[in-house]
Amino acid sequence: MEDILDPIKALRSDHEVVKGVLNNLDGYLKKIGESTSDSLRKNLISQLTEITNFIDKDLEVHFKKEENALFPVLGNYIGSETGPIHVMLIEHEQSRRLAKDFKLSISEYPDKNNHNIAVTSGRSLIGLLSEHIDKENNILFMMADMHLTGAEKNEIMEKMRTIK
Ligand SMILES: [Fe+2]
Ligand SMILES: [Fe+2]
Repeated sequence: MEDILDPIKALRSDHEVVKGVLNNLDGYLKKIGESTSDSLRKNLISQLTEITNFIDKDLEVHFKKEENALFPVLGNYIGSETGPIHVMLIEHEQSRRLAKDFKLSISEYPDKNNHNIAVTSGRSLIGLLSEHIDKENNILFMMADMHLTGAEKNEIMEKMRTIK
């Protein structure tokens, strides 16, 4: 019960889900890159919709939980104008831009018939998000566990529940 009420544990568990999706995406990109047939490639690319929907909805909710629930409270201890929170915010924006490029490259295929653009931008997104998650798990969330009081954790959890 207590596990579910801890917002840091909840965010860490979101990360595991995101990592699973990134792994899945990596597998698709490998197949697309190796594919020699246009129709097979087209088919693989059309199957990426589930992943782009996850990025648009679930990943965005996760970012919002951090930006609107965790960061404001943790920022009282470690600041948010500079340092790790500032860097995390920049990386969220980078991720949103890369996801947009990735979706554009998918929607333009096969008109432009350049699957390399989709593979390249997909790989950049995987790289950015993997490093981002590692930094949060190993640095930011450690700081959160060190500083936040039980009452603050409850407050963050309550706020996170309202973000959908
Ligand atoms: Fe984040
Ligand atoms: Fe995160």
